[in-house]
Amino acid sequence: MDIQIHHTFSLLSLLSLLFAPTVAFAPTDNYLINCGSNSNALDFSRVFIGDSTSTFLSEGKSIALKNQNPSPNLSSLYSNARVFTSELSYKFHINKNGTHLVRLHFSPFVSQSYNLSTAIFNVSANGFPILSHFSVKHDDLREFIMMVDSKSLEILFNPASEFGFVSAIEVISAPDDLIVDIDTKFVGPSEIKEYKNISSHVLETLHRINVGGSKITPFNDTLWRTWIPDDDFLVLKSAAKRAVTPHTPNYQKGGASREVAPDNVYMTAQQMNKNNLTMSAKFNITWEFPVGSHGVLHLVRLHFCDIVSISLNQLFFDVFINGFSAYRDLDLSELTFHVLASPYYIDFVVKSDKSGFMQISIGPSELSSPLRANAILNGVEIMKMVNVVELETGSKRGSLWIIVVSVLGGIAAICLAVLAVVIALECRKKKEKEKPKPVESMGWVPLPINGGSSYSRFSEVTANVSPGPKLFFALKIPFSDIQYATNNFDKSLIIGSGGFGMVYKGTLRDNTKVAVKRSVPGSRQGLPEFQTEITVLSKIRHHHLVSLIGYCEEQSERILRHKKGLLKQIIDPKLSGQIKPKSLKKFVETAEKCLAEYGIDRPTMGDVLWNLEHALQLQEPGTRTASCEDSNLNEP
Ligand SMILES: *[C@@H]1O[C@H](CO)[C@@H](O)[C@H](O)[C@H]1NC(C)=O
Ligand SMILES: *[C@@H]1O[C@H](CO)[C@@H](O)[C@H](O)[C@H]1NC(C)=O
Ligand SMILES: *[C@@H]1O[C@H](CO)[C@@H](O)[C@H](O)[C@H]1NC(C)=O
Ligand SMILES: *[C@@H]1O[C@H](CO)[C@@H](O)[C@H](O)[C@H]1NC(C)=O
Ligand SMILES: *[C@@H]1O[C@H](CO)[C@@H](O)[C@H](O)[C@H]1NC(C)=O
Ligand SMILES: *[C@@H]1O[C@H](CO)[C@@H](O)[C@H](O)[C@H]1NC(C)=O
Ligand SMILES: *[C@@H]1O[C@H](CO)[C@@H](O)[C@H](O)[C@H]1NC(C)=O
Ligand SMILES: *[C@@H]1O[C@H](CO)[C@@H](O)[C@H](O)[C@H]1NC(C)=O
Repeated sequence: MDIQIHHTFSLLSLLSLLFAPTVAFAPTDNYLINCGSNSNALDFSRVFIGDSTSTFLSEGKSIALKNQNPSPNLSSLYSNARVFTSELSYKFHINKNGTHLVRLHFSPFVSQSYNLSTAIFNVSANGFPILSHFSVKHDDLREFIMMVDSKSLEILFNPASEFGFVSAIEVISAPDDLIVDIDTKFVGPSEIKEYKNISSHVLETLHRINVGGSKITPFNDTLWRTWIPDDDFLVLKSAAKRAVTPHTPNYQKGGASREVAPDNVYMTAQQMNKNNLTMSAKFNITWEFPVGSHGVLHLVRLHFCDIVSISLNQLFFDVFINGFSAYRDLDLSELTFHVLASPYYIDFVVKSDKSGFMQISIGPSELSSPLRANAILNGVEIMKMVNVVELETGSKRGSLWIIVVSVLGGIAAICLAVLAVVIALECRKKKEKEKPKPVESMGWVPLPINGGSSYSRFSEVTANVSPGPKLFFALKIPFSDIQYATNNFDKSLIIGSGGFGMVYKGTLRDNTKVAVKRSVPGSRQGLPEFQTEITVLSKIRHHHLVSLIGYCEEQSERILRHKKGLLKQIIDPKLSGQIKPKSLKKFVETAEKCLAEYGIDRPTMGDVLWNLEHALQLQEPGTRTASCEDSNLNEP
């Protein structure tokens, strides 16, 4: 009983750990400069310091220019500019190494002596050119995301014509999880590759879109960004329908954080406009974003939050970029630990083509049932990798990853998982009896991981609940065995497609029945998440859960999905006679509820645990409960 409670707490603490608290982001470096002025300016409640009296500005020839005729609509930040006729530099002390946001504001006005829209100039940051032969026709804001790991950041302006100018400058420390250096999927004509080392590149933001929503101003954004609506980029407006939720998104560790994108991005989306009868049941929603030059690498970040589904595991869709498949069978329920309306983002590296546009399409996947076919998108960011044209060759990895089981959202999942764990243990014992086998690389190969956040999930979660990687090696099953068991992933062996994802039923060489879950290639759910799941599931495998194995192996027959009173016949023969009828009944009731077709009808994890505890109490005292190892030892 002790152990049982302990395990319960492990799971609960894991769950509570997943929900991140709300704390406003306070950047370590936060320089806001009002250029060409000796007074401060207020912009969306932020104070920009006048540069005339500041220490940031280097000595040199420059002019503080005032707009004599400022538009009343314009921020006071833009009523002045610093004009330079020779080199000009701003130097900022860096207090925290890491990714920084550098924003340069330009508002070209006309004064007696200068017409600022005729200026042409270069800008570099710590020697790295970020703007070349730059001229400004309209109010403009250029944002660069760059790694700064030096004592200072120097922004250098050089006139390429007679003069240049700048209206305002921001240098801000980015949150650690904004750009994370893990392999990012490359989408394009070549074979699938991963792109490494994103954070070391200077990124220039080209588009920042609040899909299905309205404009978000710096005032309402966690990092003082501006997000604009997507309508003007939709290729066929009638294909899309806005979705809005009034509820705050369920941020989780491992998903996107509030700093990655604010609430408003995740609370709105575009989904398939299926009410339009002139459309076929299956179609894409497509956006086209102008990106300019051909052959340049871009980081495309797509934001998702399932605010349209009424239950888990109903939404499966495909993502295409420039006509190439970027993500197949995207299952947000799976990626967000089975929580609806939970923010998530995925990064892709894409080379721009001749069209001059970045084309993004979403459409229903083959896995979705026709009635529930849908596809969503909540936000898009497109960032140009400045001065990167050549694609570094990422390591080519097997994109296959075999998961024996995963959390599926209820007891059904736990049953399958426990079943798999037991089988894995049996399998291992059998192997040990034979001869020692070298570790096979085809066992559990970590997936190429897209995006930043799963990494932090790994480090934090494992620090709290994982006993270390040993367990996973102990449970390792050779891939060839899995292939054999599932007849090389025979489609006819898929069980519960739609609700369960790709779960195959199979039979191992020793005739043990197994449930095998095969991850979608390209999925961000990496080895770390999987390890966490197995850790938790294997911890709760003791005691009463063993009896559940018998149920899950033949779900449909049991229910028979039970009504005919055949319950006793399907219990594992090893356990028959040991389970008290009341306890058994409680189990079956719980299991049955978990198998309800709609997620909304299924109990929460907490309810499941409570019910199992209750069932255990009905079983105790006095009765011996078989543990996993016990049943294994009974094997001849
Ligand atoms: C200022 O905004 C108002 C309302 O949006 C608009 O009618 C007016 O033309 C704008 N003025 C200038 C100078 O842009
Ligand atoms: C300022 O320069 C721009 C670009 O050369 C030109 O179109 C505009 O007419 C000029 N404005 C004035 C007032 O000279
Ligand atoms: C501006 O940048 C361009 C392209 O990098 C370079 O050819 C030119 O020499 C630069 N001009 C100045 C004045 O730095
Ligand atoms: C940042 O890194 C540079 C060089 O790697 C080092 O000189 C500097 O002290 C670091 N700054 C901080 C705040 O750690
Ligand atoms: C990442 O990029 C930087 C700058 O291009 C380079 O110095 C560094 O060696 C790269 N690191 C890896 C692991 O490729
Ligand atoms: C901030 O968001 C709120 C709620 O969405 C909105 O009413 C308000 O106008 C926004 N403020 C600005 C400055 O964008
Ligand atoms: C349905 O789609 C057609 C063309 O695809 C469009 O002309 C029409 O306006 C759409 N109707 C609605 C209600 O969105
Ligand atoms: C969606 O777009 C992709 C890429 O252009 C295309 O391959 C696919 O056939 C489209 N799907 C539908 C249903 O039109």
